[in-house]
This record gives sequence, structure tokens and C-alpha cells, in this order.
Amino acid sequence: MVKKALISGITGQDGSYLAEHLLGLGYEVHGMVRRVALEDPERRVGRISHLLDKIVLHPASLESYASIFHVISQHDFDECYHLAAQSFVAESFADGFSTMATNINGTHYMLTALRELRPRCRFYFAGSSEMFGRVKEVPQRETTPFYPRSPYGISKVAGFHLTTNYREAYGMFCLSGILFNHEGPRRGFEFVTRKITSTVARIKFGMASELRLGNLEARRDWGHAADFVRAMHLMLQQEEPEDFVIATGETHSVREFCELAFAEAGLDYREYVRIDEKFYRPAEVDLLVGDASRARKKLNWQPTYTFQALVREMVQADLKAAEQRLEAKP
Ligand code: NAP
Ligand code: GDD
Repeated sequence: MVKKALISGITGQDGSYLAEHLLGLGYEVHGMVRRVALEDPERRVGRISHLLDKIVLHPASLESYASIFHVISQHDFDECYHLAAQSFVAESFADGFSTMATNINGTHYMLTALRELRPRCRFYFAGSSEMFGRVKEVPQRETTPFYPRSPYGISKVAGFHLTTNYREAYGMFCLSGILFNHEGPRRGFEFVTRKITSTVARIKFGMASELRLGNLEARRDWGHAADFVRAMHLMLQQEEPEDFVIATGETHSVREFCELAFAEAGLDYREYVRIDEKFYRPAEVDLLVGDASRARKKLNWQPTYTFQALVREMVQADLKAAEQRLEAKP
């Protein structure tokens, strides 16, 4: 029997890699997308444009329980990967209300609709290392207490507890992946890694002269999204639902990322990076580094990308794209 998977947030970075991965495993892949995406697929579904004839898209938004209920009523899904969210931490400080409403209610709607219509469907919640925030221990593992530092982090803690509650209260196969930062050439431009690599490329081709950043000393455990989506799938194949930390176990500063990314293009970051207070956050998460021993042991999961390979791939992809844009200009 071909398994049916539903991915919310299929147009995002992780959704696109996960859709590819599940198609490769022989799944029938369905995705929830906002109505506007269907109106302008060229512009709004760029990350999955190469998959459009292999997947089924359904209009729905996290703000509308009725739309989610309708999608879930359409097919007997075996697995549901709930990735859709307002995922940018800085934006959650700018508009905490909408981030909380979208992320918390959206997760609640997904769980409620599944309980009502597909109680046997396995459910993955996209938890985050932002839940550890002001970290209580180093490295962070599944048992580390949460201390979120942003409305985004708080919304993810709520989603995590909702997921646990549906597992315990209704016996559903629901779990959370607690994923540390993961990146790649499809990363949104507002996140620091892509902001750096895309600006490096623009500087290299004379389209920009500087890169304005906030806190260069923040440290993150950066992996590659292609590695991390494999873990999402493995989690839902377990006999019993259980939460997992997914991380590389290495930590690097934003400054180190800059140094490596500029060097990849033959540039010295100190000549181009300028500090701009406006990119500082009201409350920062200074250090994240995860301990994924449980996933390594029980899921037999491990990352394949090194930090250096991740930075290289992102810079090279952005250099190529910038060059193509230049060549396309009349
Ligand atoms: P992303 O690139 O920002 O993608 C977010 C997805 O959510 C997009 O498909 C977006 O659709 C959709 N979405 C946002 N608001 C929506 C709404 N109101 N209704 C319906 N869809 C909505 O994020 P990502 O990096 O792939 O991350 C996937 C998930 O993992 C997110 O929940 C994120 O919080 C979580 N996470 C990410 C990381 C990481 O480092 N990447 C780490 C831990 C956890 P549009 O295309 O229409 O905007
Ligand atoms: N975005 C951004 N822009 N971040 C900057 C900048 C800048 O100009 N300058 C410094 N930073 C620092 C931020 O202060 C933060 O400490 C770090 O770079 C990483 O920021 P982001 O790339 O925006 O990611 P994030 O760690 O806040 O959140 C991402 O990872 C989480 C998992 O830990 C997102 O993908 C979240 O959705 C995810 O849950």
C-alpha cells in the first residue's frame, strides 16, 4: 500500500526537502498551501516548482479551522508533518500576537481535526531549539527544561505541550522533533545564514558593498535541512511515539559563519560587515548546541554535512544565482 503523507508548510524550506524525500521513498505526497500560493505558483511555490506534477496541493491556512478540517477530510492520511508556522523569531517580537495566534491555534486546529477525522494518522510537530532559549544546560537534550526567549519560542513550547497532550489524552501517535537550526540554499533570505551568503554573492558581483548584521557573537548549532528532514520521517516510523532532539552537536558563532562564507568567495568579512543595532533582538538566545544521542541511537540518524560543507554549498549556490541574474540582464 502506498503511504499518504500530508505536509503543512510544504512551500517552506523544510517542506520542500521533506516532499522530495518522501517522494523518493514512494509516498503519495499532499501539501497544504495558502490560497494565494495557488493564485501565483511561479512566485510563491518556487521551492517546490520542480515537484508540482508529482504532488497534490490543497488550499488551507493555519488561521482557518474549517479549511484544515476540509483538507484532512479528503484523504485517509497515514502521516502528517505539521511544519507550517510563522518561523522568523525577529518577526515574532515585531508582532507577537499574530505569531502566537497562527502557531498555537494552527497546531491546535491540526491536532483537533486529526483527532476528529483521522485518529490513526501519525503526527509530527516541528518543535524548535528556540524552546530552550536561555539554556539551562549545555548541550541541550530532550530532558532539558524549556526557557523560551521570544513569542516564537513560547508558541513552540505551547505546540509541544499540545502535541504531548493529544498523545497522552487521546492515545494518538503524536510527537515533536526538537530541531536545532538547519539551513541550505533554499533558506529564507531573512535568516542570518542566507542573508550572509546571498549578500556575499551580491558583493562579489558588485551589486552590494556591505552587509549589515546584529549580534555576531550569537552561537548556533547549524545543520543542513536535507539531513534534518530525514530525521522527521524516521521519527514517525518508530513503534512508540517519542520526542527527539535533532542537532549536529557543533556550535559556531555568526562571526565564524561570516568568516567562512566571505572566504569561500575570496573575500575578508572584516572589510564588509557592519554592525547595525536594528538587527539586535530584545532578548537573545546566546548559545544553542544540541545532544542528538537519542536520535543517533534509536533512529540511527546522523548528519552527513559538516559546517564547512553547508557554508560552501550555500555560498556557491548564491554565487551561481547572482551570476545568472547578471547574465540575464540586457
Ligand atoms: P519556512 O521556510 O519559514 O516555511 C514556513 C512554512 O509555513 C511556509 O510554507 C509558509 O507558507 C507556511 N505558513 C506560514 N504561515 C502560514 C499560515 N498562516 N497558513 C498556512 N501556512 C503558513 O520554515 P522552515 O525553515 O521550513 O521550518 C519549518 C518548520 O520547522 C517551522 O514550523 C519552523 O518554525 C520549524 N523549525 C525550523 C527550524 C529551522 O532551522 N529551519 C528549526 C526548528 C524548527 P508560505 O510559503 O505561504 O509563506
Ligand atoms: N536574522 C538575522 N539577521 N539574525 C541575525 C542578524 C541579522 O541581521 N545578525 C545577527 N543575527 C543573529 C540572531 O540574533 C540570532 O542569534 C542568530 O543570528 C540566528 O538568527 P536566525 O538566522 O534569524 O535564526 P534563529 O536562530 O533566530 O531561528 C531559526 O532557528 C530556530 C531553531 O533554533 C529559525 O529557523 C526558527 O524558526 C527555528 O526554530
